[in-house]
Amino acid sequence: MSDMTDAVAGDDVLVELDDLEVHFPIKRGVVLDRTVGHVYAVDGISLRINRGETYGLVGESGCGKSTLGRAVLRLEKPTGGKVMFENTDLSGMKGEKLRRMRQRMQMLFQDPLSSLDPRQSVEALLVEGMRAHGLARDKGATDERLRELLSAVGLPSTALRKYPHEFSGGQRQRIGIARALSVGPELVVADEPVSALDVSVQAQVLNLLEGLQADFGLTYLVIAHDLAVVRHIADRVGVMYLGGIVEESASDTLYTEPLHPYSKALLSAVPVPDPAVEDDREQILLSGDLPSPANPPSGCRFHTRCPWRQATRCGTERPVLRELAPGHRVACHYAEEIRDGEIQPNTAVEPATA
Ligand SMILES: Nc1ncnc2c1ncn2[C@@H]1O[C@H](COP(=O)(O)OP(=O)(O)OP(=O)(O)O)[C@@H](O)[C@H]1O
Ligand code: SF4
Ligand SMILES: [Mg+2]
Repeated sequence: MSDMTDAVAGDDVLVELDDLEVHFPIKRGVVLDRTVGHVYAVDGISLRINRGETYGLVGESGCGKSTLGRAVLRLEKPTGGKVMFENTDLSGMKGEKLRRMRQRMQMLFQDPLSSLDPRQSVEALLVEGMRAHGLARDKGATDERLRELLSAVGLPSTALRKYPHEFSGGQRQRIGIARALSVGPELVVADEPVSALDVSVQAQVLNLLEGLQADFGLTYLVIAHDLAVVRHIADRVGVMYLGGIVEESASDTLYTEPLHPYSKALLSAVPVPDPAVEDDREQILLSGDLPSPANPPSGCRFHTRCPWRQATRCGTERPVLRELAPGHRVACHYAEEIRDGEIQPNTAVEPATA
């Protein structure tokens, strides 16, 4: 299934996902170790990320954002579909070839230093990443590189001799960024890069990431459950629901004209600074709980909670992402009718059975 938009076809594509699937087996039984089902964490995602852009990925907890990010870096092996990095298929790649490829893509975590050895100095932590890719052979050049990296992320070179616990959360994230950049990647997958930080510090770190993008020629995939974070930094945004992308557009368009009922609901929960707009808006409340990705609803995965749900198609046919306007893709059978006001949300939507 390759229903890519023409709007991005001419651009310089760095990452391309084609019908990507990551299904985790659910095992039961000690002796036989039977597979009794699957968690459909990523289930048929096709998208492109252009070189130099920031692609934001948003959605509720458990919808598969981190799994998608990990699959892009081949930290998770796809169970179906393709992950292309600069026209090379990573899906079946392994060994030395994969290791070399990984140097070109790095992951940035929520609190990157919490997973690292607290007894190692910042210098040791940074050098470790470089050494893994054979980049720390010459002591003089390495020292120079370390100083450059720290200055790029706004830390003094005295930080090299300190330990992670001596820094604030924002400074630790700066060290995490330096560590990711130390191997000279082209792609950085940032998984909730600021959600562990105080709001006042979040903007500083996001601004730093934006500044580094141009200086280091980086492409970003930024994952966040917080729509405000993605709006600030992303050029384009993809909205995920239960393993699929339900809407994708330029960032501004998504925030001003969301077309998919799920995106509308997500955005209706975000306060708008303009009181006139705020007064006009109605919060869309979703009925029912988020279904389990191990047992996703038939048809449109959102149909058990969708206020616009219709009696035909919604419960039986899975909608594909369709382009409604240039660069604006929506996976909803009734997107046009909803946009044009021909279908109204049902006032009392009973949670449908899956
Ligand atoms: N290694 C694994 N084995 C089995 N199930 C997994 C594994 N990793 C993730 N899952 C499941 O896959 C689904 C998607 O998880 P994922 O971590 O990708 O979601 P997420 O969108 O990043 O959520 P959050 O916002 O909470 O970080 C969840 O149901 C999760 O429990
Ligand atoms: S396809 Fe139907 S259930 Fe799904 S989002 Fe559209 S209207 Fe709602
Ligand atoms: Mg996650």
